[in-house]
Amino acid sequence: ARITLRQLLDHAAEYGYGVPAFNINNMEQGLAIMAAAAATDSPVILQASRGARSYANDVVLAKLIDGLVEIYPQIPVCMHLDHGNNEATCATAIQYGFTSVMMDGSLKADGKTPADYAYNVEITRKVSEMAHWAGVSVEGELGVLGSLESGEGEAEDGHGAEGVLSHDQLLTDPDEAVKFVEATKVDALAVAMGTSHGAYKFTRKPDGAVLAMNVIEEINRRLPNTHLVMHGSSSVPQDLQDIINQYGGEMKPTWGVPVEEIQRGIKHGVRKINIDTDNRMAMTGQIRKILSENKAEFDPRKYLKPAMEAMTKLCQQRFEEFGTAGNA
Ligand code: G3H
Ligand code: 13P
Ligand code: ZN
Repeated sequence: ARITLRQLLDHAAEYGYGVPAFNINNMEQGLAIMAAAAATDSPVILQASRGARSYANDVVLAKLIDGLVEIYPQIPVCMHLDHGNNEATCATAIQYGFTSVMMDGSLKADGKTPADYAYNVEITRKVSEMAHWAGVSVEGELGVLGSLESGEGEAEDGHGAEGVLSHDQLLTDPDEAVKFVEATKVDALAVAMGTSHGAYKFTRKPDGAVLAMNVIEEINRRLPNTHLVMHGSSSVPQDLQDIINQYGGEMKPTWGVPVEEIQRGIKHGVRKINIDTDNRMAMTGQIRKILSENKAEFDPRKYLKPAMEAMTKLCQQRFEEFGTAGNA
């Protein structure tokens, strides 16, 4: 059944687990995520970006979600808008059956220009009021995360929270977070805690803490009723990089957020963990492998099926690692 982000994350907070939010763009990804949720008895957050909505078409995407919910009646499904950029994008998501929307007012509507605090509060407050009238949850964002636009985060030096984040101004300020939540009434808040979007997060293997745990802890302590969201949470596994590169890919060496760091974050109040890159890599690795091993093959099902299986495996791992498993 469909549930809101508020319902799902209230349960996660009560029982101390985290919920991965997986990006969805097509049927294969939807089936793969749901198979993993069913196999591990996990509630699930499916999230669609603006890019996903225009790629799949809003109508097709909405019916796809209907289908997924129908085949897995035992799995609670939150359908969430990832990085909404204005009031209209959030309103139309609600019309198409989303149970949660992100209004990312940390950026202007172009999705790249940093916005000031007053702009962020005003637009998020408006969306929050509208969404709550419709019984839909809202995620806001406060702070500066790595690049969204290119899909490549600003590579950090991998030197642990202090080294990486010597530029403190990038981290969300807890005082501002408290004011922001009071003014906007968001259910969940994405904060800048040391991660960035895309595959290129760290240029060296992180040798210590990656996340600004003190920031997470303090915001969680002062906003116990607001659920913390961590964007840019892919771990960029070495074995997936290897498969891609072994079969003709050209990914540069890179490191993501170690799963143990995410687990520490969950202990300190992180509830929603956004993952897209890892699943993209899982699928692409298999597609490259199958096509290069079977050069005469041209039936898409022959490479999409293994791609789905690789994605299911990754999702299943995350459901287990984040403690989501068994909570459906
Ligand atoms: O945060 C961004 C997500 O990875 C979605 O990316 O906008 O290319 O669909 P996208
Ligand atoms: P990754 O690029 O680390 O998978 O992050 C995805 C994300 O934050 C979507 O909002
Ligand atoms: Zn994001």
